[in-house]
Amino acid sequence: MNRFAILLAFTLTTVATAQSFTFNRDVLPILQKNCQSCHRPNQIAPMSFLDYKSTRPWAKAMKTAVASRKMPPWFADPGVGHFRNDRTLSAEDIDVISKWADSGAPEGDAKDAPSPVAWPDKGWQIKPDLIVDMPEFKVPAKGLLEWTDITIPSPFKEDTWITSMEILPDHPELIHHIGVLFRPHTPDVQYFKPEWAMIPRDESGSAYPKKKGERAQTAGSGQQRVGTITIEASYVPGISAFDYRIYGAGKLVPAGTDIVFSMHYTPNGTAAIDHSKLGFTITKKEPALRYMTFAISSPSDAESFAIPPNQPNWESPTAEATFTEECELVWMQPHMHLRGKDMSYDLIFPDGSKQTILSVSHYGFNWQLGYELAKPLKIPKGTKLIGRPLRQFAE
Ligand code: HEC
Repeated sequence: MNRFAILLAFTLTTVATAQSFTFNRDVLPILQKNCQSCHRPNQIAPMSFLDYKSTRPWAKAMKTAVASRKMPPWFADPGVGHFRNDRTLSAEDIDVISKWADSGAPEGDAKDAPSPVAWPDKGWQIKPDLIVDMPEFKVPAKGLLEWTDITIPSPFKEDTWITSMEILPDHPELIHHIGVLFRPHTPDVQYFKPEWAMIPRDESGSAYPKKKGERAQTAGSGQQRVGTITIEASYVPGISAFDYRIYGAGKLVPAGTDIVFSMHYTPNGTAAIDHSKLGFTITKKEPALRYMTFAISSPSDAESFAIPPNQPNWESPTAEATFTEECELVWMQPHMHLRGKDMSYDLIFPDGSKQTILSVSHYGFNWQLGYELAKPLKIPKGTKLIGRPLRQFAE
């Protein structure tokens, strides 16, 4: 009997020793899978978690950030949908990082380390076949910059299937977004001329309300950007690459299509010249599926969209669209501004049934994440898509 008890105690001790976690064996694999996409040089996170030396000083902060689920950033409510790019840590992973930090964050044996991830060169996530230099943009140290559009000549001399695109930001700390729009070439186009909306503002920077249907005057080159063009991709902190290859899909860009960059810079105290880049992969063979990107929006005129002063929980009008063709839905990207709190995406199928496919109840303005469905969702023709505030759930 006695001997048995001692043996048992011995076994327990062995288990406890096996649970002391090391960087090389236990922590690095988690960082490679869930953190290094942002935490490496030239990405949006301020520090690199590629190796022990640069990670070690952050051990305690990592524990706090993962235990509170501040990191990795993810805002889709659990229970609604499954997403391919969900980096949420499992309870076991959180436990590993926490215990490792608590036990002095040991490095462990180098031979236990997984081989490094082959992250693409010079910050590119795709390996572009074609790189376009975006126009240089002087960002002053201070002030408010209106969204500015700049058109550049087409890099596509013939009809081209693109299979991925990525914006490589030069000064990510100054970029709130860069939109990429394709515009059919017209002879009167003025290249490289900045253009922005003349928005009347008071001295605090607040815009005077527009009347219903009223458009802001444009300044700069004076060409109108609206019309037949659609937004094709946008860089926002956290999302820079769009890869259609995983679906066997591509976007067809007609020969001669000009590219419009819609830039939104936010001065941060230090003046800089931003010179970002746009990269594409292309294919000669027509892909099986065509990838289309659409933006739908709530009405934004001052009559329909006016948050009353001091109202912390105002319900905006919904954004709605109807699919006129059968398709598969793969990606969603809720976008709101500073006051945005929550949003959900609902489908109303032709037979009247409803499905919520994304619910973001704590929207973070600083995190413009995209949500990629784990499995493409078949959408019958005639299905309605509604982007709405979550408060309407109560009805
Ligand atoms: C989508 C990009 C992204 C991913 C993925 C990501 N981080 Fe971060 N992380 C950031 C950015 C940007 C910051 C700095 C801004 C901030 O603190 O919000 C940051 C800050 C941090 C901080 C400092 C927090 C603080 O309070 O000062 C820690 C620690 C951290 N990340 C740990 C992690 C860990 C661990 C993972 C993976 C489990 C991870 N991050 C995944 C982008 C990311």
